Amino acid sequence: MNTPPRVVVLTGAGISAESGLKTFRDNNGLWEEHSVEDVATPEAFARNPELVYRFYNERRMQLTTDCVNPNAAHEALVTLERALKDRFTLITQNVDDLHERAGSERILHMHGKLLSSRCVTTNKTFECKIAFDGQTVCACCNTATLRPDIVWFGEMPLYMEEISQDIANADIFLAIGTSGNVYPAAGFVINAKDSGAQCIELNLEPSANNWLFDESISGNATEIVPAFVTRLIKEYYL
Ligand code: APR
Repeated sequence: MNTPPRVVVLTGAGISAESGLKTFRDNNGLWEEHSVEDVATPEAFARNPELVYRFYNERRMQLTTDCVNPNAAHEALVTLERALKDRFTLITQNVDDLHERAGSERILHMHGKLLSSRCVTTNKTFECKIAFDGQTVCACCNTATLRPDIVWFGEMPLYMEEISQDIANADIFLAIGTSGNVYPAAGFVINAKDSGAQCIELNLEPSANNWLFDESISGNATEIVPAFVTRLIKEYYL
């Protein structure tokens, strides 16, 4: 029996596309008609908090409709996690909860979560399934307003220490449904290669940093991710 590999998976918006959530860079760089600078920076929040709340509330409502559900690619990653147990790490840039709803257990949401809000003073997070306007008094300090629990451009992504460690120990690094435009996530493939991991991209089309990968598989996530997981399970008798 082969020793099971240590697998690190990075997912991006493309894995949720077939669940009905729009990706970021397929609409002239506009997110639902807004530029990044208008809605996803600390400066935007300071300038026009109502617009920022409204933007994330719309996305939150979209996520909680009955039509948006995990797809076969999210489910295949659950199968892989169950087969590999603690030799598996799932890092996502996505702020949706589709990995959780599919059944993934340990998920590093490096860009935060849509269904969570954060106290601007203490950084404590709260579940937030409904629309909110920031006027709700924060339960932890009774004064401050809450902000979306999203890592905006110019802010430090979360879990970077755990991510670096897991990538340093990886045998296989998979990037799924991400365009490779936003750092530091876009640079993880370089760290993984430096650690000797086999690096494989699974995306609709070759990404911006496709040339850094050992193998690139193109197609819809709902087809190529389950097929790839089956391949790994067979190859390693998992
Ligand atoms: N199957 C697989 N890949 C797909 C599919 C699909 N059905 N549909 C689209 N894709 C691919 C696109 O070809 C593209 O390369 O998914 C990728 C999505 O890229 P982006 O929209 O740039 O999303 P992502 O890489 O996750 O963005 C990174 O940027 O805007 C910020 O914080 C935001 O987390 C986000 C980060």
